[in-house]
Amino acid sequence: MPQYNYDEAQEALQYIQQFTDTTPKTAIISGSGLGDIADIIDAHAIIQAQDIPNWPSSTAPGHAGRIITGTVSGRPVIMLQGRLHYYEGYPLKAVTFPERVLGMMGVQEVIITNASGAVSMSLNSGDIIAIRDHINLMCNNPLIGQNEDRWNERFPDMTHAYNPELLAILKDMGIHQGVYAALAGPSFETPSEVRMLGMLGADVVGMSTVPEVIVANSMGLKVCVLSCVANMCAGIEYGKLMSGHEVLEVMQASAKRLAGIIRDLIERLNGESE
Ligand code: HPA
Repeated sequence: MPQYNYDEAQEALQYIQQFTDTTPKTAIISGSGLGDIADIIDAHAIIQAQDIPNWPSSTAPGHAGRIITGTVSGRPVIMLQGRLHYYEGYPLKAVTFPERVLGMMGVQEVIITNASGAVSMSLNSGDIIAIRDHINLMCNNPLIGQNEDRWNERFPDMTHAYNPELLAILKDMGIHQGVYAALAGPSFETPSEVRMLGMLGADVVGMSTVPEVIVANSMGLKVCVLSCVANMCAGIEYGKLMSGHEVLEVMQASAKRLAGIIRDLIERLNGESE
C-alpha cells in the first residue's frame, strides 16, 4: 500500500522524467468531462498513469488517467488528464500526490479546471469563471499528519492561494471571478445548504480542487483555477433536480471554450517571461 510520501513521489518523478528532457513550466489538470483540453497541446509523450510507480490511478475501467507532456504555443507543459476525488474514497494524500510530483518536477504554475454548481444568481450554466478564493468545507486537509519538511512548512500561508498575477491576466481577458466552496460530496447539496453557502460568501460549489490547491500552494506553485458552471445549485430553479449526467454534458460542451482560455493564458505567460 503506497504511503504517498517523498520517496514514492521521487520514484514517480524519475519514471515520468524518462519521457521528457525539458522541465514543464505549466501544469494543466483537467476536471470531469474536460479531457478534450488536451487538443491544445503539441504532444511529445503520453504516459499511462497506471504505469507510473506509486501513482494513484483510478481502478474504475476506462478511467485510468493519462499524462501528456508537450508544448502549448512553444511553452513546455504537462497535463494530467483525469484526477481522483475525495468522494471516491481515496485519502487526500493520494488525491494530491500528482501535485507533489509536479512540485518536485519544478513546474512554475498549475492551471486547474473543475465543474461547479452556481450558488450565485448572477451566474449561469456554461459560464467559466476564475476562482479567486475558497472555503474548505470538506472537513479534511491533505496536510494533516506528520509534516514532510522537504515539501512544505507545517503551517503554509493561504492569503494568496489563487495567484494574483494569474488572476490579473484572466481579468484582463474578461474572465469573471468567484469564491469556490468545496464539499466532500458525492451527494449534491440540499437547498438549505445552498442558501447557507450563499450566506458564507460562496459563488460556486464543487467536490474537488481545494486539496490540490492547498498542496500546490504549500510547495510554492502559482495556482489558477478555472471553474465551469455546470448547473444552478439545488433549490434555485423551481422543480429542477440535480443530475451528474447534466454536469458531464455541460462540461463536454464547454471543453473547447475552456481550452481556448487556457491557450490564451499560456500565450500571455509566454509573453511575460520573454
Ligand atoms: N454541487 C456540487 N458540485 C457540483 C455541482 C453542484 O451543484 N455541479 C457540478 N459540481
